[in-house]
Formats: sequence, structure tokens, C-alpha cells
Amino acid sequence: MVGANDRDEPASQPGLTFRLMRDTDVPEVLAVEEASYLHPWSRDIFHDCLRAGYHCWVLQVGDHLVGHGVMSLAVGECQILNLCVHPDWQGQQFGRRLLRRLLAIARQRNADTAFLEVRRSNGAAIHLYQAEGFCEVGLRRGYYPKGQGREDAIIMAKPL
Ligand SMILES: CC(C)(COP(=O)(O)OP(=O)(O)OC[C@H]1O[C@@H](n2cnc3c(N)ncnc32)[C@H](O)[C@@H]1OP(=O)(O)O)[C@@H](O)C(=O)NCCC(=O)NCCS
Repeated sequence: MVGANDRDEPASQPGLTFRLMRDTDVPEVLAVEEASYLHPWSRDIFHDCLRAGYHCWVLQVGDHLVGHGVMSLAVGECQILNLCVHPDWQGQQFGRRLLRRLLAIARQRNADTAFLEVRRSNGAAIHLYQAEGFCEVGLRRGYYPKGQGREDAIIMAKPL
């Protein structure tokens, strides 16, 4: 569950703030999500993640909500479930900062391994994850919908 240690905080750049996602953020989060993914999460999925006590964060530049990250934490491990930066704001290290923020929380909570799944075709995300120390540890064949067919998910992990 999200706790008192996970307060809003400046993100070491003027005007940049990481803070916990609120129910009222979901419409803006959905706008970022829908601009970024061909198969975006729905409103209900975000509300479910918030209700479940997952670690749901947003990144703001001034008043603009530019990205979000969602992570579940269980005994000893975390799963990065979503990491997303609006296309207009990509390429400015925001994805990296969001990822590092989530992993820092997981470390504070004594997780020793981080896992995630990524589409095989998602070169930008795979580069980011590899650069941050994730390695491929498995494959789910045909896991994601893609056009008329399906696409593999690469499972990646990183020791924390
Ligand atoms: C993946 C994503 C979160 C990266 O966010 P971002 O803010 O654009 O990325 P950053 O600026 O933090 O870049 C960090 C690293 O990611 C990699 N990267 C980012 N964009 C890239 C691109 N277009 N091509 C190749 N590598 C890329 C690089 O390794 C980069 O490191 P570098 O700047 O030192 O070269 C963003 O592209 C996104 O939201 N995509 C759509 C949603 C998505 O696919 N999420 C991942 C689901 S698993």
C-alpha cells in the first residue's frame, strides 16, 4: 500500500513534480495514455489500481500532467505495470525519472527484484529498461493484441 513516506516531492528540476495520482487525475492521465499507446488502459483500470493501493504516480511540469507510472509491490518484488510519458514530452528524461522514482520506492519497501513486461516492438522502452539495468528473463508469446494479430511480451527483470 502507498504510505506516509511516499509524499509529493520536487523532482530536482524547477517546475517538475512527482506526486501520487488521485482519482481526480484519471481524466488527464487517460489523455496521456490515449495519446501514447495504441492499446491504452481504460478509466476503470486506473481506478482499480488506485483502489487496490498500487503505487500510482504522476509527473507534472508546471500545471501539465505529462506522465504516469504504476507499480505493484508484493513480498520481495515489484512489477512495473505502466510507464508512460505524453508524446509531446518524450525524450526529456521524464520516463527515466519516473522509472527511477518507482524503483526507489520499491527499494525502500525492501523489494529485491523488479519485473516488467514490454512489447517486443517497443524499441524506445526496451532501450530505457536496458539502460537502467533490466535484462530479458522470459517471453510470453502472443501476449499483446496487435492489429489483426498478437505480439510477444518480453519479460525483463532487474535486481534492486
Ligand atoms: C518508453 C517511454 C516511457 C520513455 O519515456 P521518455 O521520457 O521518452 O524517455 P527518456 O527521455 O527518459 O529516455 C530515457 C532512455 O530511453 C531510451 N529511449 C527513449 N526514447 C527512445 C527512442 N525513441 N529510441 C530509442 N531509445 C529511446 C534511451 O535509452 C534513453 O536514454 P538516453 O536519453 O540516455 O539515450 C515513452 O517513450 C513512452 O511513454 N512511450 C509510450 C508508452 C510506452 O510504451 N511505455 C512503456 C510500456 S512497457
